[in-house]
Amino acid sequence: MIIVVDFGSQTTHLISRRVADFGIQVKIIEPDVALEVITAVKPAGIIFSGGPASVYERHAPTVSKTIYTLGIPILGICYGQQLTAHLLGGKVKPGKTKEFGPAALVIDGNTRLFSSLSTRSRVWMSHGDVVASPPLGFSFVGNTETVAAAAMTHEKRRIYCVQFHPEVEHTEHGALIFKNFLDICGLSAKQQSVDIEAMIKTIKKTVGSKKAIAAVSGGLDSTVSATLVARAIGKQLIPVHIENGLMRKGTTQTVVSYFRNKLGINPIVLSKEKEFLKVLKGKTDPEEKRKAIGKLYIELFEKELKNHTHVEFLVQGTIYSDVIESKGTRYAANIKSHHNIGGLPKRMKLILVEPIRELYTDQVRSLAKRLRIPRQFISQQPHPGPGYAIRIIGEVTKERLVRVCLADAIIVEEVNMTGWYEKLLHSFAVATGIQSTAVKGDGRGLGEVIAVRAVVSRDRMTADWAKLPDSLLQKISSRIVNEVPGVSRVVYDITTKPPATMEWE
Ligand code: XMP
Repeated sequence: MIIVVDFGSQTTHLISRRVADFGIQVKIIEPDVALEVITAVKPAGIIFSGGPASVYERHAPTVSKTIYTLGIPILGICYGQQLTAHLLGGKVKPGKTKEFGPAALVIDGNTRLFSSLSTRSRVWMSHGDVVASPPLGFSFVGNTETVAAAAMTHEKRRIYCVQFHPEVEHTEHGALIFKNFLDICGLSAKQQSVDIEAMIKTIKKTVGSKKAIAAVSGGLDSTVSATLVARAIGKQLIPVHIENGLMRKGTTQTVVSYFRNKLGINPIVLSKEKEFLKVLKGKTDPEEKRKAIGKLYIELFEKELKNHTHVEFLVQGTIYSDVIESKGTRYAANIKSHHNIGGLPKRMKLILVEPIRELYTDQVRSLAKRLRIPRQFISQQPHPGPGYAIRIIGEVTKERLVRVCLADAIIVEEVNMTGWYEKLLHSFAVATGIQSTAVKGDGRGLGEVIAVRAVVSRDRMTADWAKLPDSLLQKISSRIVNEVPGVSRVVYDITTKPPATMEWE
């Protein structure tokens, strides 16, 4: 087993995932209990995660120095490296600049950790502090343009530290670094891939001859989950698609055609746009809107459930980051609670089937490809559960819903045509609720301001506004003001996250 000590990095779970990918058991623990757990469990290796703190801060999380004397190989990542330097007598200081993003790692020393790595490769940095001088017996073995101590090791004591994040996919040889570390720990690391047949077998065994119901929104996670269940139990699966009018144009047709033609199951479609508009009437507070949508969704689903007998299971597309995000960890800076529609009430008394609960987004995507799920599902940008309702600031009316829907379709069409769609995490329209003047024909008139938001993101937690070409922005703007009724002007949102969120509400 490998023990990961969590100092609050947003990517601690990714570290455990990288280890688990090699078929090795892994456990995440908190620093306060580290020595106790490590002495009891006697793991083959220890990994210290990154974290938002600085080692010199009061109350910065730390561990007992004894851990370094146990003879167990250690890999320190980012804060893990700084803490190691700090505890063993090296010096840590604030970096000249806070570095966030890609950097070129140059390996300039001999270490088993970098065995088979090319001398120059891309790594992903995210830090404020750096190690200024190493502890006795350690040497620097890698640098980047701005950081002399991109890696430091004590080969004899088998302590390896890196300033960058090998766990994120943007580090070119991250998996190889983990494999090397596991080799050092004496573990035989073999890359595992998701075993589809085993998943199907488990579902079959769980559901038996009963029925399972699934809410299928058209999103990738619910589609993959329902597909696995359909492969296991065929028509014992009842897919239900609630058309709330708040999803992208064409979603319902895509869902129906996939389930009918590819899986041979006719999904139940509940066309309920009017009902959703009715519960949204007069509501301007985003939380109230979210709640109203969630409540109606559950009511409709429960009502539908009554039309069926022998349904004992509910299929949900929960993925591992949903589980992590809603739980959070003690030292994590700020992880928000997960806000998918989910949470179907306990009174339904259904047993949850969550076939992809252990998987990350990239695993879900590759699983989807292996399941031959059409590209539309795999390459689509995520759409929030409450859909357009949180992209219409203030009250959602039919008129404004049509407006945002049309503007959104134009954006998607244009970014698609110019090859930008798949580079963006999101690209969408916001009906801002602001009225501004415009000259149309002979007269001046008021119309709503539409904001365009397009973001790129490496980790889905932070984002930068996309530097779309002028010509593309111009085309989007002209088309929206000319083709969408009631729009007076178009503005482009140039705010990063943080501080702004992706959505406006
Ligand atoms: P924010 O706006 O919080 O968005 O930066 C982060 C990601 O979450 C999505 N999002 C939601 N998804 N229900 C959802 O299912 C919601 O209420 C909701 N609000 C935001 C957002 O689209 C982005 O991908």
